[in-house]
Amino acid sequence: MADSRLLCVLADIPDGGAISRHVESATGGFQIILMRRGRQVFAYHNECPHQGRHLDYVPGKFLIKNAQIICAAHGATFAVESGSRISGPCSSGLVRFPVQLEGDEVRLA
Ligand code: FES
Repeated sequence: MADSRLLCVLADIPDGGAISRHVESATGGFQIILMRRGRQVFAYHNECPHQGRHLDYVPGKFLIKNAQIICAAHGATFAVESGSRISGPCSSGLVRFPVQLEGDEVRLA
């Protein structure tokens, strides 16, 4: 039986980069963003607070520069470590998603 709490291993996320994962739910599931800095992993719903669009420019590919993730739709920027809005056409930040690192495995918290 597959381990439903396991999202990926740390090496799946490029250091300084991001990947996406699908999380199952009773309503069909949703996408999250997993960003990495060293051994720290930051997870957020893949939903921009501006118009609710995914932040990736193609599925699973994200724009990250100077510790900020940039929404590919209209350029809103958010801090990788907090999800806080830095600039752009929205008034709030990204919604954090609870994950934890167990050894080298990234898991649902
Ligand atoms: S949907 Fe992200 S900036 Fe508009």
